[in-house]
Amino acid sequence: MISFKKAKTYIEKFGSPLLLLSKDQVKENYSVLKKCLPSVDLYYAVKSNPNIELLRAVKEVDGFFDLASAGEIKILKELNIPASKCIYTHPIKKREDIKYALDYGVKLFIIDNEYEIPKLIEFKKDLDVLVRISISNPDCPVDLSLKFGAEPKDALDLIKKAHKEGISVKGISFHVGSQNVNAYKYIEALEFCKDIFKLAALEEIYFDTLDIGGGFPVSYTKNIMPIDYSCSIINNYLEKNFQNCRVIAEPGRFISATSMTLIASVVGKSKRKGIYWYYLDDGLYSTFTGKVFDACDYKILTEKSGEPKACVIAGPTCDSFDIIYKNILLPELDIGDILIFPNMGSYTNASATNFNCIEPTKIIVV
Ligand SMILES: Cc1ncc(COP(=O)(O)O)c(C=O)c1O
Repeated sequence: MISFKKAKTYIEKFGSPLLLLSKDQVKENYSVLKKCLPSVDLYYAVKSNPNIELLRAVKEVDGFFDLASAGEIKILKELNIPASKCIYTHPIKKREDIKYALDYGVKLFIIDNEYEIPKLIEFKKDLDVLVRISISNPDCPVDLSLKFGAEPKDALDLIKKAHKEGISVKGISFHVGSQNVNAYKYIEALEFCKDIFKLAALEEIYFDTLDIGGGFPVSYTKNIMPIDYSCSIINNYLEKNFQNCRVIAEPGRFISATSMTLIASVVGKSKRKGIYWYYLDDGLYSTFTGKVFDACDYKILTEKSGEPKACVIAGPTCDSFDIIYKNILLPELDIGDILIFPNMGSYTNASATNFNCIEPTKIIVV
């Protein structure tokens, strides 16, 4: 964790707000997850943070990449990442994006409904697909099952339809939801996969790939199950049931979240109805976008001491929606104070806007 003294020297040199990226942390996260899931190839989900230096760190540990748009491919091209290291996992694709990915050399795609099949037929000799199933997870902060995934009971039908059109279906994928803290959700999903593998084999459609998606959580404000424990539950199941299959995963958050720290400054202060409001130079429209789109809460660190008082922390834009913390206990702050926010590397800068034409928060590698 960065000290306030060091944070101030960065702010003096580069200005505020500032995101500090640790490439070593990216590499560490990748290797921790790899050690926990030794038989699984890890495709870093670029969507969680497409910063080029972060991607370079994944490249430097010989990582794989999970892509969801032509724009993401353009960044990988700049890094000369071979397409053989990439998969394209967006279940709903524009024709141009399919073509762009294929021209780059990506081979493995995902489908989750029959309307995607006609888009792929013209390219069928150049690609393989996995069928994504939906895993309902209402307790998860980001339940992806509403928007994506075939119902497990409908998966065989979809597999047969694609197969009949000459599209090579190689296996099944799922995503249990992002920041999923319940390892048994993976087992629930794997049980469905096991059944679908068997049903497909009865139709003489043989699978060799299983994609267990992302969802591996990090500790933001609450303690969570250690990752090695959660993964041991998954490994045991895979060893018993999927020995002869290539298993891949698409972790985003676990690789990127802890790699970035935000330093922001108090640029305004007011007292409204007896409560202090502090206005920061970063907010919901920028790095804190994850509070809106990722249902995420972030820890705040201050060097101020004193009696904690309920206060409001707001962002810099002219929108009254731009309130980061509505009721939080902090010692009294002053204009010019800095705050440090650890674990700001996932779904933060990735989804930031430039509303009010405010410059994006600068990212520096430390
Ligand atoms: C298809 C797909 N793969 C991987 C990820 C990464 O998930 P996570 O960051 O939870 O690991 C996501 C996140 O939304 C996704 O939609």
